[in-house]
Amino acid sequence: MARSVWGSTVGKKTIMAVSGLIMLLYLVVHMFGNLKIFFGSGQFNSYAHWLRTIGEPFLHYEWALWIIRVVLVAAVVLHAVCAYQLSRRDQRARPVAYAHKRPRASYATRTMRWGGIILALFIVWHLLDFTTLTVNKNAQPGHPYENVVATFHTWYGDVIYIVAMLALGLHIRHGFWSAAQTLGAGKATRDRVLKGIANILALVLTVGFISVPVAVMTGVVS
Ligand code: HEM
Repeated sequence: MARSVWGSTVGKKTIMAVSGLIMLLYLVVHMFGNLKIFFGSGQFNSYAHWLRTIGEPFLHYEWALWIIRVVLVAAVVLHAVCAYQLSRRDQRARPVAYAHKRPRASYATRTMRWGGIILALFIVWHLLDFTTLTVNKNAQPGHPYENVVATFHTWYGDVIYIVAMLALGLHIRHGFWSAAQTLGAGKATRDRVLKGIANILALVLTVGFISVPVAVMTGVVS
């Protein structure tokens, strides 16, 4: 069963759809959590502390967070490996080699490919910035509010995050739609609704995430 899912194109697309939806769910929660920054340092930092104590005393300190991390890493790896394999498969499936230059992939394919690469690089930077604090100018463990403000006081922090969030919006817009197709939507009326949901999700997430660097840049959050 597992082998046939992994070995087939439909199986890989299903894995991409499900892992994508898991990441999307995380992002919706993460974006709304980030908006707590507008309520000040005390609220934001105690929210970050709460993230580490979810499930206590049944779970130990940070256990829930580690479970979330393991699920997310699995989702990212499965999503990326399937994307790579599907695109290799697509290239191999061309019956006749093109005599001249290969025609460029479609706009959507190119956007998803480059968007995926930008987001993968962004995630590495983001973890170095706010989790390990390696590249953070403030780098105070337990003080995410001050660390976030420090990042968005640098020009490169603003550029990296805003570019990545725009890539994220485009990726979600097309990705959500593709996932719905894979998971068996496909009636004209339902498709229209799903396209609407994809657009709203992409817009809300992009605007919500970008509001944080913009708030720091404009002094609303300081
Ligand atoms: C402006 C946008 C964003 C801001 C300000 C932001 C801020 C933060 C902060 C402050 C943390 C650390 C929380 C803590 O340790 O308590 C964090 C963690 C995290 N963020 Fe973001 N984030 C943003 C966008 C994103 C995006 C787009 C993604 C995914 C593509 C993402 C994925 C993560 C992950 C996976 C973690 C958890 C790291 C861990 O395991 O501790 N974030 N974010």
